[in-house]
Amino acid sequence: MKQSKLTFIGGGNMAASLIGGLLADNLPAKQITVADPESGTRDSLANHFGVNTAEDNVAAITGADVVVLAVKPQMLQSVAEVLASAVQEYQPLIITIAAGIRSADLDRWLGGETGDSVAVVRAMPNTPALLQTGATGLFANAQVNEEQRDLAESILRAVGLALWVENEDQMDAVTALSGSGPAYFFRIMEAMETAGAGLGLSAETAHLLTLQTALGAAKMALESSEAVGVLRERVTSPGGTTEQGLQVMAEQDIDGLMARVLRAAFDRSRELARSLDEKK
Ligand SMILES: NC(=O)c1ccc[n+]([C@@H]2O[C@H](COP(=O)([O-])OP(=O)(O)OC[C@H]3O[C@@H](n4cnc5c(N)ncnc54)[C@H](OP(=O)(O)O)[C@@H]3O)[C@@H](O)[C@H]2O)c1
Repeated sequence: MKQSKLTFIGGGNMAASLIGGLLADNLPAKQITVADPESGTRDSLANHFGVNTAEDNVAAITGADVVVLAVKPQMLQSVAEVLASAVQEYQPLIITIAAGIRSADLDRWLGGETGDSVAVVRAMPNTPALLQTGATGLFANAQVNEEQRDLAESILRAVGLALWVENEDQMDAVTALSGSGPAYFFRIMEAMETAGAGLGLSAETAHLLTLQTALGAAKMALESSEAVGVLRERVTSPGGTTEQGLQVMAEQDIDGLMARVLRAAFDRSRELARSLDEKK
């Protein structure tokens, strides 16, 4: 990756996070170009990160090994169609982070039907990527070679964990689990804060104890080689307080609840992808 030239199309939040992570991983800023229509956005990225910027998307991808499409999903088709002939000519690896856009559609917009099929990696990061603690699902189409797979993985690893899925339909499951996941944890934290305050703690104390407990539990689970179920059993003494709390969770069917939560998000992800398909 140290020698690769990267171009970002779209210089918004996600592009800035990825660039921050890549520079922290020692990728030289001069190997990164960002294209964005807003001069204010370009100036701020150039000043903050020292990267090259461009107003014109086609000029920006000339000579790039990797092009990261970091525009909103509804912009992607028009952006891709303008890039098609340059992509056919230079054949860079294309990484898209737009939710719900299938690799086959992107390949077609980039000229893959009439010309050469395009190497496309679809990535689904989540919002903690903005703090370099994201979780990303990755899918590569058949045109992506080993070297490009490694390259895509090292780019997304700059903002956290990056894991491959083998078939593209699994991206809807990634969306349901880690894409929407931060909000589920926020919701659980909200409920714990309210319940703690209901037991007499100040709102501030309940808030801070909840957050630190969530962080500590996640850190313990990440650093342990044991399954989370084993960690849970270890902190559950027979006849103790935790056992009583967990008993209520079991009675309320916590497993069934989370299965329904993820299924609803999964179904919506498919629906949204289908509605994007119909608009084409
Ligand atoms: N943020 C997240 O946590 C997250 C998580 C998962 C996936 N994603 C995906 O990441 C992508 C980017 O999200 P974001 O949050 O970074 O959005 P964003 O902050 O709105 O960034 C998009 C950028 O692209 C620019 N742009 C618009 N049209 C363009 C064009 N024709 N050529 C070049 N640049 C153009 C926008 O400029 P203007 O502001 O002037 O329009 C903006 O600077 C989206 O597809 C989103 O679905 C984001």
